[in-house]
Amino acid sequence: MKQKRVHIITMGCQMNVYDSEQMLRLLAPLNFRPTSQLHKADLIIINTCSIREKAEHKVYSLLGRLARMKRLRPDLMIGVGGCVAQQEGHRLFERAPHVDIVFGTFGLERLPSLVQQVNNQKKHIVDINPRGTSGLLCVTEPVFQTERATAFVTIMQGCDNFCTYCVVPYLRGREVSRKPEAILEEIRLLVKNGIREVTLIGQNVNSYGRKNGHGCNFPVLLEQVNDIEGLRRIRFTTSHPKDLSDQLINAFSRLDKLAAHIHLPVQSGSNRVLKRMNRGYTREDYLKKIAKLRSVRPDIAITSDIIVGFPGEETTDFEATVDLIQQVGFDSFFLFKYSDRPNVPAAKFSNKVPEAIKRKRFNRLSEIQGRFTLEKNKALVGTIQEVLVEGRSKKSHHQLTGRTPCNRSVNFSDCTARVGQVLPVRIVEAFSHSLLGSSVKGHEEYVGENGGISHAA
Ligand code: 5AD
Ligand code: SF4
Repeated sequence: MKQKRVHIITMGCQMNVYDSEQMLRLLAPLNFRPTSQLHKADLIIINTCSIREKAEHKVYSLLGRLARMKRLRPDLMIGVGGCVAQQEGHRLFERAPHVDIVFGTFGLERLPSLVQQVNNQKKHIVDINPRGTSGLLCVTEPVFQTERATAFVTIMQGCDNFCTYCVVPYLRGREVSRKPEAILEEIRLLVKNGIREVTLIGQNVNSYGRKNGHGCNFPVLLEQVNDIEGLRRIRFTTSHPKDLSDQLINAFSRLDKLAAHIHLPVQSGSNRVLKRMNRGYTREDYLKKIAKLRSVRPDIAITSDIIVGFPGEETTDFEATVDLIQQVGFDSFFLFKYSDRPNVPAAKFSNKVPEAIKRKRFNRLSEIQGRFTLEKNKALVGTIQEVLVEGRSKKSHHQLTGRTPCNRSVNFSDCTARVGQVLPVRIVEAFSHSLLGSSVKGHEEYVGENGGISHAA
C-alpha cells in the first residue's frame, strides 16, 4: 500500500488534541503517516471547536484557505471533524463544497472507513451519528511526530452540567467515563514510549466514575495512576468547582506525582450571575475550596476561566468578579467575552451586554491578570524549580523549554539535557508568559522536594 501523509489542524481544547492523536492512530493502518507540512499532505483534517463564536469563525476562514489548495490539487482529501462538524453536518458543504468528509464528535473509530469511501470515489460523506466510543477507544500504540515527554489521556467524555452558556453537552453528549483499566493501560504504554507526564482530561474530571459504576471515583483513579512506575507527573483538567471533593483536595497532599496546579474555572464572582449560568456554587463556596486547597498544598498554582458580559451582567456583578479575582490571586486565567451559541438557554436571555462594554470589562480584567501573573512569576526569580524538559524553545532554537510543577514555561540553556528529563533549574528572569532559567546540575536526574519548589540558598 502506497504511503500517504496526513496533516491534522487541531483547534480548541485539550480534548481535541487527544482526539487528533487518536485519529493519527486510527489512520496508521491505512498507511497514513503524519506530516507537519500542509502542502505535503494527501489528507488534511480540521478538528474543530465551536465552544465560542470566535472559534467557529476561524474554522470557516481556514476552510477558505484550503479551497485554494484543493483547486490546485483536486486529489487532496479534506475532512472536518469535531464540534463544528457535529453542529453543522450537511450544512457545512453549502459553505465549503470542497470538503470531502464531515465527521462529528462521536464516531472517531469510523474515520478510516469514511476515508476509504472517499478513496472509492464517494463524495460529501457525513457521519454525525451520536453513537460511538469516541475518545474512549481501546488502547493502541501512540503515534508521535516528534520526541515527546507529555501527553493527554481522556478519562471521560461529555458533560451533564448544562451551564446555560455552553454548547458542550449538546455537541459532545452526556457524561461517559472510560474504564479505569483502559486508562491505566494507555498510560503504561505512553510511559513505555517515553512519556513522563500525563494530563488526565475530560469536561469535568471531578465527576469521573459517578455514573458508570466502574467502582472507581476520580481520587481513586489518581491514586492508581500515581502508582505507575516511570511516570513522573500527573495533571488533570477541567475541574468543576461544585464537584471538587475534600477527597480530591486531600490528594494534593498525599500523591507525590500530582503537580501543584489546579485549573478551576469560576466564570464569575457574582452569585446572581453564577445562578443564571447554572453553575451550582456560590462565590463563598468557591473561596472556601480555594482556602482548603491552599491549606493542604500552600504552593498550589490556581488558574481559572472567566466570562465577561454574560447576559444581564451589571456593573455590580462585574465588580464582584474583580473582587473575587483579587481575593483569590489567580496565577493566571483565561478570559472570554460571552458569545451566543446555537440553542443554548443563555442565547434567549434578555439584557445582552453591548459589545463595547464587554470589551471594556475584558480589557480591565486582562490588565489585572497581566499584572498578577507577572508578579507571581517575579516571585519565582532566585528559586530552583523542577523542570520537565519538553523540547526546544520555539523562540530560540539554542534553548530548551519545559514546565515547572505549577505549569509555568521555563526556557533555559543546557546542551546535554534530553527531552523527558527532570532537572533543577534556577529562575533568573520573569516575563508575563514565561520564565528564563539556568540549569543547576547539568543533566543529572533530579528528584525535587516540597513538590518540586525549593528556595535558593
Ligand atoms: N461564551 C464565552 N465563553 C464561553 N465558554 C464556554 N462557552 C462560552 C460562551 N458561550 C468558556 C468558559 C469555559 C471555557 C472553556 O470557555 O469559560 O470554561
Ligand atoms: Fe460546558 Fe459547564 Fe459542562 Fe464545562 S461544566 S463543559 S462549561 S456545561
